[in-house]
Amino acid sequence: MDSADTAKLKKRKINAAIYFMNMHAVETMVKAEDLGKTVETSAGQLTILKGINLEIKKSESVAIVGESGSGKSTLLGLLAGLDTPSRGVIFLDGNEITALDEEERARVRGESVGFVFQSFQLLASLTAVENVMLPAELKGETGAGKQAHALLKRVGLENRAHHYPRQLSGGEQQRVAIARAFASSARILFADEPTGNLDTKTGGVIIELLFELNKEFGTTLVLVTHDTNLATRCDRAIHIDSGMLIAAENTDSGYSAPAVEGN
Ligand SMILES: Nc1ncnc2c1ncn2[C@@H]1O[C@H](COP(=O)(O)OP(=O)(O)OP(=O)(O)O)[C@@H](O)[C@H]1O
Ligand SMILES: [Mg+2]
Repeated sequence: MDSADTAKLKKRKINAAIYFMNMHAVETMVKAEDLGKTVETSAGQLTILKGINLEIKKSESVAIVGESGSGKSTLLGLLAGLDTPSRGVIFLDGNEITALDEEERARVRGESVGFVFQSFQLLASLTAVENVMLPAELKGETGAGKQAHALLKRVGLENRAHHYPRQLSGGEQQRVAIARAFASSARILFADEPTGNLDTKTGGVIIELLFELNKEFGTTLVLVTHDTNLATRCDRAIHIDSGMLIAAENTDSGYSAPAVEGN
């Protein structure tokens, strides 16, 4: 092999490496390595999450399930870049968010993430439609009002557009929060018990809406839920027990075993 051939081979190898790196970046939406969270309490240190490893692909729908207090909301907040871990690394939509400061994490969240909180977190001084408009307005998108009204209609709240959160029931506030998460045209939507405050029928409508979003726009869904209907609709479930991922059996309800990576 002459030196020209060697150079060609080297170039081909480099291109192949770049190709695989890009493939990886496109395919993986969330990756967590050895994630841990310990907090100080009056009773001493409390370890909430212990050595979590997981990977969520683009356009995947994943349910995070487990008992109350097992660490689901804490994990979701970390993966979404709302909170910082005590140890470990998180990649979110191609960004190593654990290497970023709060301002840079806020930028990544604004660009990529929608979040439905367990406690709604609507702004009390804004009406339903203004709450829904907020993410698009912050991005400077035009037509935020029209889009917000359309989204409120999809969650069955067109007659509540000008109500303030205090004038809405818990389930209605939940639906406004979901409409708002949709308005951010997020690439990944994190939702903490999105059907937790809803009756079966309204919950069903919301589940349909979540999966329409997943299908139409390829939005990655990461949902904390106690609702087996919702968990079985997801591609897979991640089980968490006392802050650790546990391998799941395939269940009759249909969801497949979670991806549990050992160290
Ligand atoms: N900032 C904090 N300080 C002290 N303890 C905390 C803190 N945040 C969470 N915890 C504790 O960590 C544990 C996990 O909390 P987390 O909210 O993640 O649970 P969860 O699985 O979402 O539960 P649920 O299903 O009830 O919402 C709980 O025992 C909680 O009391
Ligand atoms: Mg929770």
